[in-house]
Amino acid sequence: MPPSPTPRRHRTAALVVLAVVLAAFAGAVPPPSRPGGAVACAAPAAAAAGAAILRQGGNAVDAAVATALALAVVHPQAGNLGGGGFAVVRLGAEVASLDFREVAPATASRTMYLSPSGEPVPERSLVGALAAGVPGSPAGLFELHRRFGVLPWRQVVAPAERLARKGFVVTQRLHDNIAHERALLSRFDFTAKVLLPGGEPPRVGTKMKLPRLADTLAAYAAEGPSAITVGRRAATLEATTRALGGIVTAADLASYRPVWREPIRFSAFGWEFASMPLPSSGGIILAESAGMLQRLGWATLPRASADRAHLLVETWRRAFADRFLLGDPSTTKAGPEQLLAAAWLDGRVASIDRGRATASANVKPWSASPESPETTHLSVIDSEGNAVALTTTLNGSFGSGVLVAELGFLLNNEMDDFATAPGRPNMYGLIQGEANTVGPGKRMLSSMSPTVAWRGDEVLAVGSPGGSHIPTATLQVLLDLVVDGDALADAVARPRLHHQWQPDRLVYEAGALSAGVIAELQRRGHALQQANQLGEVHAVRRAASGRVEAAADSRGPGAAAILDLGIGERQGRPEKEE
Ligand code: DON
Repeated sequence: MPPSPTPRRHRTAALVVLAVVLAAFAGAVPPPSRPGGAVACAAPAAAAAGAAILRQGGNAVDAAVATALALAVVHPQAGNLGGGGFAVVRLGAEVASLDFREVAPATASRTMYLSPSGEPVPERSLVGALAAGVPGSPAGLFELHRRFGVLPWRQVVAPAERLARKGFVVTQRLHDNIAHERALLSRFDFTAKVLLPGGEPPRVGTKMKLPRLADTLAAYAAEGPSAITVGRRAATLEATTRALGGIVTAADLASYRPVWREPIRFSAFGWEFASMPLPSSGGIILAESAGMLQRLGWATLPRASADRAHLLVETWRRAFADRFLLGDPSTTKAGPEQLLAAAWLDGRVASIDRGRATASANVKPWSASPESPETTHLSVIDSEGNAVALTTTLNGSFGSGVLVAELGFLLNNEMDDFATAPGRPNMYGLIQGEANTVGPGKRMLSSMSPTVAWRGDEVLAVGSPGGSHIPTATLQVLLDLVVDGDALADAVARPRLHHQWQPDRLVYEAGALSAGVIAELQRRGHALQQANQLGEVHAVRRAASGRVEAAADSRGPGAAAILDLGIGERQGRPEKEE
């Protein structure tokens, strides 16, 4: 008699045990014990891609990489292979951050964006091939998966390739953003051909196919980053760049390496936080602000009060002044040792007048004696509470506008994040210093602040696009959650404030401040200005009970997908099949 087949559930359990044992033996990451988790990001089709990978038994890192690659297809304003980003990961007991920021090409120089008379020529660092840094995403996303993923690489790339090959539905946001950037996109033939077919932005609801990008993704799935960074595709990228006056070479692409860095770790309000270190200013701004707010007893002040708004602004004014000193880790004039030192934070707090705005002109950076439309953030959590906060960018919307025809993707204009003319404001109004001047191989200073926070079994992953608004938007959502105990969606939706030292003004969204609070803040000497939007935060949370949730910011048409207890339950905006 043939042996009776093993009952399916036992067989599955045996396979899971085997996988765990093999993984442990190989020193690799074990897969989650059951599928589940949540994704929040900027586009429904990308959230669906991440959710599909969670459903297939992937962990938070597999799903984050799949979501990021899907964004490179359906959200080309910011999702990318031709840009870079940062990811903060908490997997089991391990906390890590990956820097896959672009670097300046080998022949970049500090004066490359100045006219012969030494005047800045802003367009050069913003539009066209000369604005592009060496892309970090191909090697970065692969490395993130290599270290922490559990599903095969091909499986993780598959949803993005499918979206590019079979097509996805053009959303209102994609249509509007292309229409808005029409002048930029029509300057480059290949870009116009793909994104302005027939000279017009693609119509909402029609299907868009990106066959060249699909081929690039297929090769990336088969060979990893070398499919893009060496050989035929790298040569093509160099040729396109050169023809348009750029300086990124195949050698730059081949020598690019993502870097694992020690995250900025801090404790505040009973929670542990991990955020991005240099070359992002984000984690330092968050930690410096949280340190000041704790000292000021901010959490005990009434919500929505002028006192709270005033102290938030005073801490940001000081943290952004210190940002002036920051740059690539090799050339920064200060770092966490100086700016997060207790004595420095004590001094900073002592200089705050609770009844009066300090003029930014009187706030000096530490001394040894410191919205363009698109970047995109995604947050993922799995059933084990492993979490990824990943922010990626081309810098401006559609980056430099240059689409490398044969590869099917856009190049960034991240070089503008350098201090192309030290002391002059960049596109975010940020004034930056010597530490952030252009130099070969240097990474340009960023504000992106992907952050993971936890308290016991509760875990959060949060982040945002928005240039200089990123650290302040991220911090406010974190404070709403950990200090005031908001529901996730409420924290993300709540109107926000911003201040970045220079220009010296308190920016606020409608509804963030009551008429009485506005009057009181003006009385204290703040110059106020209303803004349409401050950031677009996407957040996920695992409660102590194990329940997971996700919230996409209602400021944009983002999407959240939730799989709880292995059930394909969805919440937030409806997940559309695209
Ligand atoms: O790294 C940075 O700080 C900028 N390149 C981010 C750009 C950005 O957020 C644009 N988005 N809205």
